[in-house]
Amino acid sequence: MQGRDFLSIADLSASEIDHVLTTAMGLKDARPQPLLAGKTLALVFEKPSLRTRVSFHVAIKHLGGDCIYLSPPEVGLGERETPADVARVLSRYVDCIAARTFKTETVEELARWADVPVINALSDGEHPCQALADLLTVREKKGRLAGASLAFIGDGNNVANSLALAAGITGMHLRVASPSGYELSDDVLRRAQALAASSGGSVRQLHEPEEAVAGADVVYTDVWASMGNEREATVRREDFAGYTVDPGMMAYASPNAIFMHDLPAHRGEEVTDEVMDGPQSAVFDQAENRLHAQKALLTLLLGSEE
Ligand code: CP
Repeated sequence: MQGRDFLSIADLSASEIDHVLTTAMGLKDARPQPLLAGKTLALVFEKPSLRTRVSFHVAIKHLGGDCIYLSPPEVGLGERETPADVARVLSRYVDCIAARTFKTETVEELARWADVPVINALSDGEHPCQALADLLTVREKKGRLAGASLAFIGDGNNVANSLALAAGITGMHLRVASPSGYELSDDVLRRAQALAASSGGSVRQLHEPEEAVAGADVVYTDVWASMGNEREATVRREDFAGYTVDPGMMAYASPNAIFMHDLPAHRGEEVTDEVMDGPQSAVFDQAENRLHAQKALLTLLLGSEE
């Protein structure tokens, strides 16, 4: 994986994902090691972040490297300077770029022009770093990926896209339940199902949340209005009525099911306090796993695995 970009979870094969997760579990249990001493990571963000920004910063610091955060007005991607020029300049200073962009095309353009690995730290199309932490969490909590059953309740957004592709690659069974008009895109569903056909997994798009949750090992949800869709929040609250993950919804899942959410959560909308703070909730372990998964990703992309 040395020197590669990470723009989509589908950039990794099943064995590479397994390698990232195994490396993450090893790093999680180990004392901080200076595997990336002398390396610098640039975070170029067009959108707000808590988990992604802090976990990347702490990850590279724990590994002996350095981090620089560039906020939206400082860089002005596509306004003050083209992504191509930003990529070429940053490549002269840093060893890796993690970019959070509105458009997937922007992070792809950065990757096209950068001489250093570019990581998609969330775009409108995907959130592959979140998917790595999600897979790590499922593997830790359920002891396996292949054969595990997940229900994703809500918007077919970037998090759902990466989860669907991840399920297809790793052989999980994913049922997504979304209101009409908010389903996974045909392209993502088709690609995820093609991957699942090879791995023994399955990916289905449904509309009834209870049907998706029935017997699931994992129940996962996300905000109804993602970053960039905030102006649709009122109409989405109406469209997503009945999609709240509450104790009644969790009762349809396996008795040992866990609840996951990539956060931030809008408590009282897509999830209730009882579920977020209840005994089945894995959300803070999941958030912690962003750190461990990204440590593994950085060591493998920057070639300091040993
Ligand atoms: N889950 C996630 O990406 O959180 P942030 O938007 O806070 O980084």
